[in-house]
Amino acid sequence: MLEVKQATRTFNDGLAGFKNISFSIQEGETVGILGTSGCGKSTLLRVLSGLDQNFEGAIEIAGLGEQPIGMIFQEPRLMPWLTVKENILFGVKETKRKQVNIQDYLDLVGLSDFGDYYPKDLSGGMAQRTAIARALIGQPDVLLLDEPFSALDAFTKMQLQDLLLKIQKKRLTTMVIVTHDIDEALYLCDRIFILGGQPGTLQAQLPIETAKPRDRGDSFLAAKKADILALLHIEKVVG
Ligand SMILES: Nc1ncnc2c1ncn2[C@@H]1O[C@H](COP(=O)(O)OP(=O)(O)OP(=O)(O)O)[C@@H](O)[C@H]1O
Ligand SMILES: [Mg+2]
Repeated sequence: MLEVKQATRTFNDGLAGFKNISFSIQEGETVGILGTSGCGKSTLLRVLSGLDQNFEGAIEIAGLGEQPIGMIFQEPRLMPWLTVKENILFGVKETKRKQVNIQDYLDLVGLSDFGDYYPKDLSGGMAQRTAIARALIGQPDVLLLDEPFSALDAFTKMQLQDLLLKIQKKRLTTMVIVTHDIDEALYLCDRIFILGGQPGTLQAQLPIETAKPRDRGDSFLAAKKADILALLHIEKVVG
């Protein structure tokens, strides 16, 4: 679905960004990207999304749709003067809007009765649900998410993680999620990439081969978490 070959995008005379990254992602797979701050995760997503074309190497996307990529950011980035429905439809061409069943999208993201609300009347979770629907309406083959839930409280975050699982199951969307939350990556992902260094390189790929939905308290996941902490060089601080 997505193939990245020897991709490099650096700044500051080669000291920032990411370097020599290669991987491929299967259709329907969910991949998590973890790495310490500044190792190039957001830069990599921007390059994958096509927003930044100043990179070296090759990126191939097998998507067939008109909009192969959908993107979700940490902040929902809604237009305050538009309703939830209008925000979701924002990127859809005027001539195509009649063909879209907006209620299906509202139902999918759990906003069935909120289509006419304005962003100021939404909770953070509801705003992010709107952003998810807006990304899905273009029928993307690949959904790229940059720390999508890091501004939300723990309970809302868990609900939205379950929403992503539901979307993944229903639409088989391929997903790449950048997150700082190791538990989130372990709950959602089929594979976890560890990025490190400056410029960032791909230092490890861990397959997480248990069926979903997963038990958040699973001892297998706890063991994987310890592996990841070691790979990120995060030591236990005692006393
Ligand atoms: N347009 C740019 N011009 C110059 N430097 C940039 C640019 N974009 C990113 N960088 C630098 O590249 C490095 C990686 O940035 P990036 O935002 O990708 O990191 P990140 O892994 O997403 O970090 P965080 O976890 O804090 O979000 C940083 O040192 C950053 O300052
Ligand atoms: Mg970032």
